[in-house]
Amino acid sequence: MELLNVHNLNVNFQLKQGDLAALIDISFSLKKGERIAFVGESGAGKSILGFSIVNLISKPGYIKSGSIKLHDNELSHLSNRQMRHIRGKRIAMIFQDPMMTLNPVLTIGEQMVEAILSHTDLRKKEAKNLAIEKLVQVHIASPENRFDQYPHELSGGMRQRVIIAIALLLTPDIIIADEPTTALDVTIQAEILELLKQICDDNNVALILISHDLGVVSRVAERTIVMYAGRIVEQGPTLEIINDPQHPYTQGLLNALPQMSLPGQRLNQISGSMPSLLDRPSGCAFHERCPYAMDKCKQGLPEFLFNGVSHVACFMVEDMLEDLNNDADSTYFDNELDEDLDTSLEIQPQTRGSK
Ligand SMILES: Nc1ncnc2c1ncn2[C@@H]1O[C@H](COP(=O)(O)OP(=O)(O)O)[C@@H](O)[C@H]1O
Ligand code: SF4
Ligand SMILES: [Mg+2]
Repeated sequence: MELLNVHNLNVNFQLKQGDLAALIDISFSLKKGERIAFVGESGAGKSILGFSIVNLISKPGYIKSGSIKLHDNELSHLSNRQMRHIRGKRIAMIFQDPMMTLNPVLTIGEQMVEAILSHTDLRKKEAKNLAIEKLVQVHIASPENRFDQYPHELSGGMRQRVIIAIALLLTPDIIIADEPTTALDVTIQAEILELLKQICDDNNVALILISHDLGVVSRVAERTIVMYAGRIVEQGPTLEIINDPQHPYTQGLLNALPQMSLPGQRLNQISGSMPSLLDRPSGCAFHERCPYAMDKCKQGLPEFLFNGVSHVACFMVEDMLEDLNNDADSTYFDNELDEDLDTSLEIQPQTRGSK
């Protein structure tokens, strides 16, 4: 059974200039213990999606329509008070900046114990033991000493470990991690991603990782969902998304990774930038930047089609699938879009159980 089911979610911002559609018809599901990722450039709607799931969209934003079900319980209609039982306990959030979660005037221990006491019947001593146990789980050395320290006394990487320990305190069903390593240097980033993956695996916690970096996503997620201008444009197994991206935007994201450039070469950034959502281009929102754009891309919206491996919303892919259907001799689906891509990336997409 699905743990989380998001169906046709639409989130708008009511602005003076007009209604801005930040999320359009977002649908996806998540199984217990599964790790998925949302990827896309800044402004794609990734954070808004994370906030929507835990009902933290604040005015002028609002959920216009759609459904968000956790174990068959509709979350989008819950009051703030009802939602407080879900947040932290069933769904925990990790942000890029640990200080969005940590209170600078309380010790690590005080914050952890407070979080436990407010959601459980444990006594203070038991709460302290649980907090220390979680600090050990995230590989914090001398956890008893760290317990009594203030956030500013810890390094950035250490603070993010503490945040993961806090997220784990009540053994949630889902952790939503929004750009959890973006502020960290590359070595620490790799350590924290590995920790997050291992912790979720060990505790059978599902993960929704949000990142602008396909490289980061490929290390952790089993399934990847690519977003552009508030819509999902491609979703499939991470291995397929990395090795055989179908949507021109996904291909652009992959090509822009430093691993895809030779040393000293400039990065192959996608030309142009994400459009303003108040002034969304007609048709496929990517058409102004897409090297394959056709006339029909400016007019209609491509359907979200399944090619046997991934789901893709692109007219070119649609045409290829149609050709394939018309060609009785074809025995396989060969994508010509990315023939120039070197797929021998030094990225190791992770599959379930691999460490
Ligand atoms: N408080 C806000 N007021 C108006 N528009 C907003 C607000 N927050 C987000 N948006 C709109 O939603 C879009 C998606 O934002 P966000 O989810 O933060 O993007 P990202 O993919 O970078 O996390 C933004 O580009 C902006 O147009
Ligand atoms: S629908 Fe057209 S513009 Fe959009 S990604 Fe596909 S080919 Fe490019
Ligand atoms: Mg964001």
